[in-house]
Amino acid sequence: MCGIVGFTGQVNALPILMKGLYSLEYRGYDSAGIAAFTGHGLEVVKTKGRIVNLEEKIREAGNPYSTCGIGHTRWATHGSPSDRNSHPHLGGPDGKVAVVHNGIIENYLFLRQQLEKHGYVFQSETDTETVAHLIDYLHTGRQEDLAQTVLKAVGLLRGSYALGVVSMADQQEIVAARRDNPLIIGLGEGENMIASDITAIISRTRKYIILDDNEVAVVRPDRVTVYNQLGDVVDKPVQEVSWDLSAAEKGGYAHFMLKEIMEQPRAVSDTVRPRIQDGHIMLEDSGLTDERLRSIEHIHIIACGSALHAGMVGRAVIEDLCRVRCEATVASEFRYSNPIISEKDLCIVISQSGETADSLAAMRQAQAAGAFTVAIVNVVSSSIAREADGVLYTWAGPEIAVATTKGYSAQLAALYLIAARTALARGLLGADQEAEICRDLLALPEGIRQALDCVKTMQCLASLYSNRSSVFYLGRGLDYAAGMEASLKLKEISYVHSEAYAAGELKHGTISLIEEGTLVVALATQERLFEKTVSNIREVASRGAEVILVTTDEFDGDASVCKSIIRLPTCPERFSASLSIIPLQLLAYYIAVERSCDVDKPRNLAKSVTVE
Ligand code: M6R
Repeated sequence: MCGIVGFTGQVNALPILMKGLYSLEYRGYDSAGIAAFTGHGLEVVKTKGRIVNLEEKIREAGNPYSTCGIGHTRWATHGSPSDRNSHPHLGGPDGKVAVVHNGIIENYLFLRQQLEKHGYVFQSETDTETVAHLIDYLHTGRQEDLAQTVLKAVGLLRGSYALGVVSMADQQEIVAARRDNPLIIGLGEGENMIASDITAIISRTRKYIILDDNEVAVVRPDRVTVYNQLGDVVDKPVQEVSWDLSAAEKGGYAHFMLKEIMEQPRAVSDTVRPRIQDGHIMLEDSGLTDERLRSIEHIHIIACGSALHAGMVGRAVIEDLCRVRCEATVASEFRYSNPIISEKDLCIVISQSGETADSLAAMRQAQAAGAFTVAIVNVVSSSIAREADGVLYTWAGPEIAVATTKGYSAQLAALYLIAARTALARGLLGADQEAEICRDLLALPEGIRQALDCVKTMQCLASLYSNRSSVFYLGRGLDYAAGMEASLKLKEISYVHSEAYAAGELKHGTISLIEEGTLVVALATQERLFEKTVSNIREVASRGAEVILVTTDEFDGDASVCKSIIRLPTCPERFSASLSIIPLQLLAYYIAVERSCDVDKPRNLAKSVTVE
């Protein structure tokens, strides 16, 4: 989704802004631009397409020098990707104000109509241009500083925003504001930055402030001042980035996605290890005390995309181990479905980024209804992490590829921990079983490492099947949930149509889509369901499907109709989704590579979906 970077200091801002924009590329975008104070005033360069196109335009503009400016990567919401819809947008007839914006202004049409009545002429179809003109309108002719005007302006906005604003009135100052969209302020020596994400500042500073909702910051080279909604100065704690710059680099891999797939043993180990102490699972600091876990009547898991798929696996493991009712619901549906929530409910919100707008809104709703909320989040101090009643961090490290892999695997591990601790608290597991589960969880990273050994096989299979126009994933129970994730991986990065089906459900309609040469990936990791899945494999094979079977070493069913069999290392069945996804992430990755797709930045997608 859109990205913001801004710099004010003593050196040339443009290379810093460009570097920041490149580091935000992974969020997904379709156009980019910058605004900076140069010898010619407030100059804007922007373009549809990639940041290299923007660089080219800046070169053509003579590589202007500036010590203060703002930059943006846009993911279109209002108006198609085009030069004129790209940010920054200028405000006022003489363009004295420039604005970059992430989020959606819901009342933009009303504001636009009002501003047009005052003579403002709009150049774009965006909601953001409204903000630029509104600030100009409120600022012009008044003896107040830009921050005061921005405070007034945001008071008139409905919707969500992270804003970076500069004005000709003070060419060293950036004003930043946020509501329901992340924004941080990087603190340097004689220079400061704004950014929607740490990756954009980390090459210059590790120290930063998180702007909270409804706050406005004045960022100058030598100081940062943050105001609350009332205009009072707020004292903000300074945070420090805990990870290394190299974590956000490819480290010799062709793509971030492949690097992150390979990092999964470490991601899972770092998530599990700190939670197992002396053979016990420790979750109390996340608010998951045994007392609370004992009294829960219902568990709601809320998430989007892959995080929801992790939640589907978690749901099955929780119900199986804990015998407590558990549902996994799409966050965007949860929030508008008048869900039944009580004070005895636990709501688990899963989000890699911790900024997903729908998940955040659904969590707030659950909190308002009295449920205890615990967030499984990867990005430290993200909005969901800060607002949840308790947090269980996944320590996957920064995930740059849009398609999540290590984030997902770490989420599964966190869910297993919650399931096991809940079962212990409710007296459904004894001390011996706790010791066994701890051993199994600690062994999971090694199982994932062994599962990764199939990399060459999956590369070969990808070259064989990359030309298929449709792929189906079949499985039952945990394998169905894992199939959902495998299918999403394939379609999002390779643009191959794909669907996951509960293996027994296929014959109720979808089997009519199976024809000669259709690729079907069948998952069978649960012994009691082997035979059932074999029957479903035969049903599709006899209609011409070519089947890849992902199963375990224990599988002894008839797989004679399958074209290939991928055997996973031994692991307890309840954790099998952590292994079965590994070959299928690799299959998706190599099919996307075969099809020359932009693996790390698939079209139309954003890493962090901060709008509804
Ligand atoms: O940051 P989140 O985990 O909340 O993101 C949720 C989804 O947007 C995300 O998992 C998405 O589906 C990915 N593209 C999957 O690879």
